[in-house]
Amino acid sequence: MRTSVENTSAPAIEADAIVVLCFEKTIPAELNTLTSGWFDEIIATGEFSGKPLEFAILHRPAGLKAKRLVAAGCGPADKFDGAAMRRVAGAAVRNLKVSGAKSIALLLEGDLAKQTAAAIEGAILGNFETDTRKSEREAKEVESFTVISTATAAIADHAKILADSQNLTRDLVNEPANILTPGELARRAQAMAVECGLDCEILDRDRMKQLGMGSLLGVAQGSLEPPYLIVLRYKAESTDHLALIGKGVTFDTGGVSIKPADGMEKMKYDMAGGAAVIGAMRAIAHLKPKVSVTALIPAVENMVSHNAQRPGDIVTALNGKTIEVLNTDAEGRLILVDAIEYARRLGVTHMVDAATLTGAIVVALGHVHVGVFANDDAMLNRVMAAAKSQGEKMWHMPLDDEYKEYLKSSFADLPNIGGRWGGAITAAYFIKEFTGGTPWVHLDIAGTAWLDDAKPYMAKGPSGVAVRTFVDLAMNW
Ligand code: BES
Ligand code: MN
Ligand code: ZN
Repeated sequence: MRTSVENTSAPAIEADAIVVLCFEKTIPAELNTLTSGWFDEIIATGEFSGKPLEFAILHRPAGLKAKRLVAAGCGPADKFDGAAMRRVAGAAVRNLKVSGAKSIALLLEGDLAKQTAAAIEGAILGNFETDTRKSEREAKEVESFTVISTATAAIADHAKILADSQNLTRDLVNEPANILTPGELARRAQAMAVECGLDCEILDRDRMKQLGMGSLLGVAQGSLEPPYLIVLRYKAESTDHLALIGKGVTFDTGGVSIKPADGMEKMKYDMAGGAAVIGAMRAIAHLKPKVSVTALIPAVENMVSHNAQRPGDIVTALNGKTIEVLNTDAEGRLILVDAIEYARRLGVTHMVDAATLTGAIVVALGHVHVGVFANDDAMLNRVMAAAKSQGEKMWHMPLDDEYKEYLKSSFADLPNIGGRWGGAITAAYFIKEFTGGTPWVHLDIAGTAWLDDAKPYMAKGPSGVAVRTFVDLAMNW
């Protein structure tokens, strides 16, 4: 989708639709006059009241060049923030493209830099569809989106980079696991790196064996698809060095501790953390933050086979700790800890990981908040601030030392699962044991990386959560 900002007036805009924000109990006076009281009328008839995501359409509006005038409900003006703007723009795009609109303009008043950015992001995110592999695609796409405001072109470009990067993540997550294997994920990450000017290094099985990544390799051993550790580097002149680490399980059958058949097809999204990191690195390559950022994506497939890891197997992680694999379905943490140790050896000073790690986080927080765990308050605050400014809902979860009791193994340093309770916390605690005191934040995105139902402003399927938080974190470092 092409996007732009134009500093002009509504009547001059040529577009298939021009969208006007309507707050509860306020009427856009000039347009109301121009249209001989259309806004008065839709409110009087009860057709429209300005509630969030309510729309009314006037065809061939008098005095405007645009083909349609669209009233977009925004709720009360004092509650309208960036997240609400993203939703309205996304919903406008999704509503209008169904009726064939190809060019949409959105009217903002004044120099609303933040709202201009949010509108462009929302429009690009709303335009995304998941039917790329249907022979006859149902989805029509909007070709151009213009914000009428005095914001700068740089603001618009920044927003487009961010949202296109989030959509790259969503495309990766949407790919089926027969196509998006660990090798294919590595190829796509490398292609992005070449295109955007990032360094890319891909560690193969031999190299990982040589290094001693027994924890990661144990998960990978049951699959014919070879594992890779994907490393992308953005270099800046900084003393701090941020690592973004993403779980890249391209398919999670559970292994020998196999998952139920029902719903297993969804486990193609078990690489959503890795995809979020790849999307974020694309934006980082373009936006050039002042801090060095290294991305690490352990990419494996968790399969059942004659060669698969067994419950009870003991593996040795890169940092030397031994792990008793009590459940082969708790594989995400096993691959993450070797990536974390490798990141530390590369000299990173701060780490964030994103992982579709546990069903337990879905029980705790539903599909609303990302679960956030940290071993360092300053790092936690940075990530929470980034999430807040990007409108990504995140909730701080506990990681007290008492939870250590839940992780006891008779035969190795650690088991890979805790008991029945606090499953998201014990998973996070397990990872924490491998951070060696490097400031670290863990995002459990199992409940938020995939939308089971479409929203008015977003297609059903991959959400691209954490991309904007990662980029914001790097940009404001
Ligand atoms: N990939 C799953 C977690 C998951 C569950 C992601 C639902 C998305 C939706 C993870 O590898 C897993 O299987 N976790 C187990 C851990 C358990 C064996 C301790 C779980 O949550 O059941
Ligand atoms: Mn699993
Ligand atoms: Zn998994």
